[in-house]
Amino acid sequence: MRILTISGSLRAASTNTLLLEAIAELAPSSVTVIRSGSLDSLPHFSPERDVDPAPEAVTDLRTQLREADAVIICTPEYIHSMPGVLKNMLDWVASSGEFVHKPVGVLSAGPSDMGGSRAHTALSHTMEVLMAQQPEQASLIVPFVRQRMDADGRVTDPVLKQALQTVLSTLIDTVGKQTAQV
Ligand SMILES: Cc1cc2nc3c(=O)[nH]c(=O)nc-3n(C[C@H](O)[C@H](O)[C@H](O)COP(=O)(O)O)c2cc1C
Repeated sequence: MRILTISGSLRAASTNTLLLEAIAELAPSSVTVIRSGSLDSLPHFSPERDVDPAPEAVTDLRTQLREADAVIICTPEYIHSMPGVLKNMLDWVASSGEFVHKPVGVLSAGPSDMGGSRAHTALSHTMEVLMAQQPEQASLIVPFVRQRMDADGRVTDPVLKQALQTVLSTLIDTVGKQTAQV
């Protein structure tokens, strides 16, 4: 089983990227976790650029998404929504449809008590429009994220660790059920 992780943050020390790394460490050996390329490599979306062949970074992204059994996106909140780089990525796959029926874990994290909840709402809504499958237990908002990690960015809070484990297990179960139906 392949799970693709996508961080909505370009920051080298991103807490959102660190949460995805924590999930990757929890993955059993039957799961291969693939980190997406940086969203920075994608050109700005325009329908006029969405032609065949698509730009190489877009083709790579679409291939990674197609090959993934499930996807986990973890995003910070910028001005009460998801960062532009993340929305740009989602714009690129609107026409190609890689998210249709794909099980997706939607996560947000932030330093305040809000945990990026408005970005979470925006992302979840966009994923709904893209017809992704969003299992409830694979959806997570992480408030006070910096206080729940040590100085090296490792998750220290057992409650958060358990919540990340639930996200992962839920996606694995969802993919398992989908596969059994085919
Ligand atoms: C331009 C900008 C806008 C931001 N807007 C919000 C916001 O609306 N709400 C919020 O809770 N945090 C906001 N933040 C704080 C970030 O969400 C926060 O620093 C987050 O931890 C960054 O995620 P990262 O560590 O994964 O890079 C903003 C930060 C920047 C740089």
